[in-house]
Amino acid sequence: MEMSRASFGLLLLLLLGFLIISSSATSGSIYENFVQCLSKHSSPFDQASSIVYAQTNSSFTNVLQSYIRNQRFNAFSTPKPLIIVTPSDESQVQAAIICSRDIGIQLRIRSGGHDYDGLSYVSDVPFFILDMFNLRSINVNITDETAWVQAGATLGELYYKIWEKSRVHGFPAGVCPTVGVGGHLSGGGYGNMLRRYGLSIDHIVDAQIVNVNGYILDRKSMGEDLFWAIRGGGGASFGVILSYKVKLVRVPEIVTVFRVEKTLAQNATDIVYQWQHITDKIDNDLFTRLLLQPITVKSDNGSAKTVRVTFISLFLGDSTRLISVMNKDFPELGLKKEDCMEMSWIESVLYWANFDNGTSVDVLLNRTSDSVNFLKRKSDYVQKPISRDDLEGLWKKIIELGKPGMVFNSYGGRMSEIPASETPFPHRAGNIFKIQYSVSWHDEGAEADKEHMNLIRELYSYMTPLVSKTPRGAYLNYRDVDIGISHNGKDSYQEGKVYGVQYFMNNFDRLVKVKTAVDPQNFFRYEQSIPPLPY
Ligand SMILES: Cc1cc2nc3c(=O)[nH]c(=O)nc-3n(C[C@H](O)[C@H](O)[C@H](O)COP(=O)(O)OP(=O)(O)OC[C@H]3O[C@@H](n4cnc5c(N)ncnc54)[C@H](O)[C@@H]3O)c2cc1C
Ligand SMILES: *[C@@H]1O[C@H](CO)[C@@H](O)[C@H](O)[C@H]1NC(C)=O
Ligand SMILES: *[C@@H]1O[C@H](CO)[C@@H](O)[C@H](O)[C@H]1NC(C)=O
Ligand SMILES: *[C@@H]1O[C@H](CO)[C@@H](O)[C@H](O)[C@H]1NC(C)=O
Ligand SMILES: *[C@@H]1O[C@H](CO)[C@@H](O)[C@H](O)[C@H]1NC(C)=O
Ligand SMILES: *[C@@H]1O[C@H](CO)[C@@H](O)[C@H](O)[C@H]1NC(C)=O
Ligand SMILES: *[C@@H]1O[C@H](CO)[C@@H](O)[C@H](O)[C@H]1NC(C)=O
Repeated sequence: MEMSRASFGLLLLLLLGFLIISSSATSGSIYENFVQCLSKHSSPFDQASSIVYAQTNSSFTNVLQSYIRNQRFNAFSTPKPLIIVTPSDESQVQAAIICSRDIGIQLRIRSGGHDYDGLSYVSDVPFFILDMFNLRSINVNITDETAWVQAGATLGELYYKIWEKSRVHGFPAGVCPTVGVGGHLSGGGYGNMLRRYGLSIDHIVDAQIVNVNGYILDRKSMGEDLFWAIRGGGGASFGVILSYKVKLVRVPEIVTVFRVEKTLAQNATDIVYQWQHITDKIDNDLFTRLLLQPITVKSDNGSAKTVRVTFISLFLGDSTRLISVMNKDFPELGLKKEDCMEMSWIESVLYWANFDNGTSVDVLLNRTSDSVNFLKRKSDYVQKPISRDDLEGLWKKIIELGKPGMVFNSYGGRMSEIPASETPFPHRAGNIFKIQYSVSWHDEGAEADKEHMNLIRELYSYMTPLVSKTPRGAYLNYRDVDIGISHNGKDSYQEGKVYGVQYFMNNFDRLVKVKTAVDPQNFFRYEQSIPPLPY
């Protein structure tokens, strides 16, 4: 018997209706199951439901977007979490892990949300977000020069809390105040005191982590292997970092900053060439960052394209000493006393974060980012100075591509004294500077994404002969899913090894061993997590 068109249509409608109902019932019951499980496992019990946001909740989108720092992953088509869990108590983190495992749903852990490729809040399989923003207390103890910092705190909050108690202490970490402690400290963490003090991870003395079984471990109970792994290996392969205890560093009452621009017509080539020969050897109190950007200069003859190099520095001392260091080792820049600005360390934090002179230190407590663009970043390490000819070639390429810029960050100093195996972060002695490739844009859509991603990939590819090789180094915190084969739920050691050795070099195998010991079934997984060995 043949089915009539009408009854076929009806059947289709019924089927569709069933599908819709069953899919919403699934997501609804996942929410209910989770809340039920949570209240069973966490205390205080009555709060369990108030920390879980279902997709249907009117605040869901706002909570999700609050810590998205790359518009590329804020599109309608970006996969959304089934629920967002926002623990305000450590026991709720423990329960969230147990319940996610019970229900069998992947967990993404987010602290400050600055992951350049959005891995803390996007996945291509059904997932939950464990959002740490409520866990952000900071306890600074000036007597023993330490601080306990919860994962959801920002770097700006940490700097502020240190400044509240002392004008001669600081912490070596990133320059962007809204970066989260959870991702930054577990993935390395560098800023403008790197040559004097190394990375953030070089100053971690204790930690609290919730492991795959929901237990809270500190340094003593987790053991030195896991403690080693979560200082540079990325926290999210091993558990949920609740907090780190860091050792503060001493900063002078007066520091000096400067910002000097040179175009190609102003000898930028010679100056950059020379900079490469001194930047890793000069006084450890000096850190310099070079911004290299294509610009258009207007003159009577019309306009011409060139490259502008901006030298931005922090010197841990006064301007008189800085000038004498520069005259001796880097006269090519022609730095003058009037280029230098003396200030307190906390003012230098604001200066580097591009706040106007006179801005209140309170701005460091503002967790909202200024401009959230569409963006892509990549990284490289340079171990041999780039020749003048190759610099000339690079300028042409930068001008030709027109959009991507580069940032050169000095290495050497303390970085060269710490053995490459001391922490999972391997890029120590032998590196002159680190490159960050950067492109940002404002237009939404796949076309704009593709255009800009192609430009930055072309620049990265152009640089291949000039940067570190076999393996080509990369910085974990400059997350780049272009590196290696990237698909979710990596189980294979061989696949993980592709990005693993670029980020961690010879430390990759030790990370795999730790992973195999603490999470053999690979619950804590994401596109670039550390794979366990098969068993
Ligand atoms: C504007 C901007 C400026 C930056 N400046 C610097 C800089 O100066 N120096 C520098 O070194 N880096 C810098 N970075 C990179 C930054 O260090 C990394 O993106 C870092 O991982 C961000 O940490 P987060 O907590 O904000 O990010 P998230 O996106 O929340 O997390 C990043 C990664 O860490 C994991 N993770 C987060 N919290 C936890 C936790 N509690 N437990 C376990 N795993 C966790 C996430 O799952 C994800 O894999 C910058 C990034 C941006 C966007
Ligand atoms: C949304 O979820 C939050 C957190 O669970 C809860 O406090 C709030 O009441 C919910 N809002 C609505 C409209 O359901
Ligand atoms: C700060 O550290 C000192 C020295 O370890 C200790 O005696 C003191 O109790 C600590 N203060 C606080 C508030 O924890
Ligand atoms: C560039 O360098 C040359 C030689 O080093 C020097 O003679 C010239 O004055 C410099 N030009 C500028 C604009 O600094
Ligand atoms: C204008 O062009 C002429 C000829 O190319 C050149 O000599 C001169 O320096 C240019 N002037 C400016 C201001 O760029
Ligand atoms: C900041 O402004 C104050 C007052 O206007 C001025 O005295 C000081 O020199 C300025 N500092 C810098 C670094 O520009
Ligand atoms: C925090 O910073 C954002 C972005 O710069 C700004 O829009 C907002 O007004 C600031 N909030 C406060 C309280 O200063």
